[in-house]
Amino acid sequence: MTSNKNLYFLPGDGIGKEVMDEVRTIVNWLGKHGSLTFDMTEGLIGGAAYDAHGSALSDETLADAMDADAVLLGAVGGPKWDDVARQHRPEAGLLRIRKEMDLFANLRPAVVFDALAEGSSLKFDLVSGLDILIVRELTSGVYFGEPRGIETLADGTRRAIDTQLYTSPEIERVARVAFELARKRNNQVHSVEKSNVMETGVLWRSVVSELHTAEYSDIKLLHMLADNCAMQLVRTPKQFDVIVTDNLFGDLLSDCAAMLTGSLGMLPSASLGGVDDAGRRMALYEPVHGSAPDIAGQGIANPLACILSFAMCLRYSFDMGKEADMMEQAVQNVLASGLRTGDIMQDGKTQVSTTGMGQAVISELDKLNG
Ligand code: IPM
Ligand code: MG
Repeated sequence: MTSNKNLYFLPGDGIGKEVMDEVRTIVNWLGKHGSLTFDMTEGLIGGAAYDAHGSALSDETLADAMDADAVLLGAVGGPKWDDVARQHRPEAGLLRIRKEMDLFANLRPAVVFDALAEGSSLKFDLVSGLDILIVRELTSGVYFGEPRGIETLADGTRRAIDTQLYTSPEIERVARVAFELARKRNNQVHSVEKSNVMETGVLWRSVVSELHTAEYSDIKLLHMLADNCAMQLVRTPKQFDVIVTDNLFGDLLSDCAAMLTGSLGMLPSASLGGVDDAGRRMALYEPVHGSAPDIAGQGIANPLACILSFAMCLRYSFDMGKEADMMEQAVQNVLASGLRTGDIMQDGKTQVSTTGMGQAVISELDKLNG
């Protein structure tokens, strides 16, 4: 048996804790049946961390996260922290961990599960079989650009500034990730920006084109303006394979793509850094959904996005594609068998709790494992 890998859990707030518990069960199952065992440790992030020590991400937690082989995050935020100063808000913890771990490539797949295609707000034919991968730049752009702030001018009026900023290496490294992933999929990349109005868009387009010509001319590259992309996503979503875009456009477009699937509670994500000299890569995996404070603590949240995030972890951090496929197959089978959590409930299906769903995935894994 290979040596233990260290998984660092950051359940965060709201339903984060509940869905993470189901992932633990899956990790234990894999430890028993797979070729690799895992050590699980845990820390605080978001509002839970703020309540405990006045900051949404402590230096100790950050250090533990950087030491781990992979980080699994639940969700952060909730109305309880609405009045907390912005630098201490739960979201600030999330932004800091992304930045400090240099997780520049955020992979957000939008995959429509056959059993759930009817739940989409679009017509069945437009979305059935949909499989898009959004690669969002995650550590730069307007989220982090300086200067920023709100100032009061001499006449008493106020002025707010955010700075959209990209360097060519920042664009190139995320574009490279997108091209590499496209090679393993359907060989097509849409690069999305606003080069008609923004300097960062002009630079984005030219850096992506140069990289394409130099190293990835086997991939079909299409440039698209971000507003048009939003429209095309709801018009004919299946025209897309991989979309690569900046931090802010990626935030917007990934929510839009998520809704195409009709089930936000199903979508995983991976945030990846570069590979260091020792072949090690910083990585954090989290569901796309939020902390859902309205249903937290009731045991009814959907754990599948979190479980599928762990599948991405197996694939991208541990090169365990076979096991990742098995997790995804188990999820498909559970859905096909008619079990649903409340968020994806349909007529004639059977509603189960968070734990019920986790256990159903384990039963399917047992079957698949023969
Ligand atoms: C996301 C979220 C975050 C973001 C928030 C919670 C800071 O919307 O991961 O998409 O804007 O990046
Ligand atoms: Mg978002």
